[in-house]
Amino acid sequence: MSFDLSVIPNKNILLAVTGGIAAYKSAILVRRLKDAGFNVRVVMTEGAQAFVTPLTFQALSGYPVHTELLNPEAEAGMGHIELARWADLLLVAPASCDVLAKFACGLANDLLSTLYLATKAPVWVAPAMNQQMWAAKATQRNLNTLIEDGVHVIMPDAGSQACGDVGLGRMPEPEDLAHQVTAYFHQAQREIAEKFGLLAGKHVVITAGPTREAIDPVRYISNHSTGKMGFALAAACYAAGAKVTLIAGPVSLDTPNGVARINVASAQKMLEVSLELLEQGCDIFIATAAVADYRVAKVAEHKIKKSGDELQIALIKNPDIVATIAQQEKRPFMVGFAAETHNVEEYAAGKLVAKKLDMIACNDVSRSDIGFASDENAMTVFFADAYHMSKRDLDKASKQEIAQQLVEAMHDALSKK
Ligand code: C5P
Repeated sequence: MSFDLSVIPNKNILLAVTGGIAAYKSAILVRRLKDAGFNVRVVMTEGAQAFVTPLTFQALSGYPVHTELLNPEAEAGMGHIELARWADLLLVAPASCDVLAKFACGLANDLLSTLYLATKAPVWVAPAMNQQMWAAKATQRNLNTLIEDGVHVIMPDAGSQACGDVGLGRMPEPEDLAHQVTAYFHQAQREIAEKFGLLAGKHVVITAGPTREAIDPVRYISNHSTGKMGFALAAACYAAGAKVTLIAGPVSLDTPNGVARINVASAQKMLEVSLELLEQGCDIFIATAAVADYRVAKVAEHKIKKSGDELQIALIKNPDIVATIAQQEKRPFMVGFAAETHNVEEYAAGKLVAKKLDMIACNDVSRSDIGFASDENAMTVFFADAYHMSKRDLDKASKQEIAQQLVEAMHDALSKK
């Protein structure tokens, strides 16, 4: 089982807007929640409609806004019980002191208070009010009751208020609220992945990107690897419940959510970090890095000056990182990659044996539509076990989908061990 932690799969947010000047911020909140991939439906109290019209929220959410409890027409569409069941989260923002009091007492005399009692979804409130009303004993008493009842209270910010006062009571910014909601669902997904994901309980170390071998203080030898495959694999392994450490050569990619990243430049440094991580405990080692085969024998201390028509630079062989790790006593499950321009499968299968790997994924970089800088890839995977070698073809797909298929292949191979 795998859980894509970069997107929120089909989660429903029931956003309740109550009467307060911060209601205008909730219009932007709808946008931000939709940007994050949530389905959003909006409920408005009568007070809220004095500040912003339902039409605004209808246009932004793409659904009719729910305003009344006893409206036969509305109930014929999505009735209050259905709406309460639809929600994966009831977010009340802004939450007035009136709604806090209603929730605390268990009143059910309008749509929102009824939904509060009728939903099994977690309830979050973002109180926003005048600082004196926030500090009032009754408001604080009601908040304590709500916290005891399991409601999550998003604390208001301090600052200058619309009424001219300064103090606690401002609703946090929509971006901040949307971020908190997203983080909550990511965490929930992560907890499921850590229990049931294909790579739950595993520590995966991945090398990615090119290496950079210095010639002198300003020049280096490198290659065109972008690191995309390794980064996609890091995200897929994390989504499958693994703890992931990415050893990245110089690339311009964002670190996938939840993944620990160690930046390195040279092959020697990449090996050093790999060995350190192996000592700390590693279950799966995936080598996607395009490691420079050779490095400069003697790096010049100063910038090499232009002189004759020719310049000779002596190179010496770099260590083979994946092969070195495969020889260690604490040998993890070893996955290699092979990019070839001809005799692709033959060379890849040869590397599987020569480097003592458990699995190797190979692709044909002579094809312009896949590989290196492309977003798509097609691969053949070879597996080694004690007696024979098996093969699995992966269809041409995005690097994310290929990464997902590779996670499944690793899981299958590991479960046969
Ligand atoms: O021998 P070749 O470079 O084609 O092998 C590719 C595989 O070996 C990849 O998995 C790559 O990350 C790994 N490799 C390595 N250290 C090297 C060279 C390659 O880990 N010095």
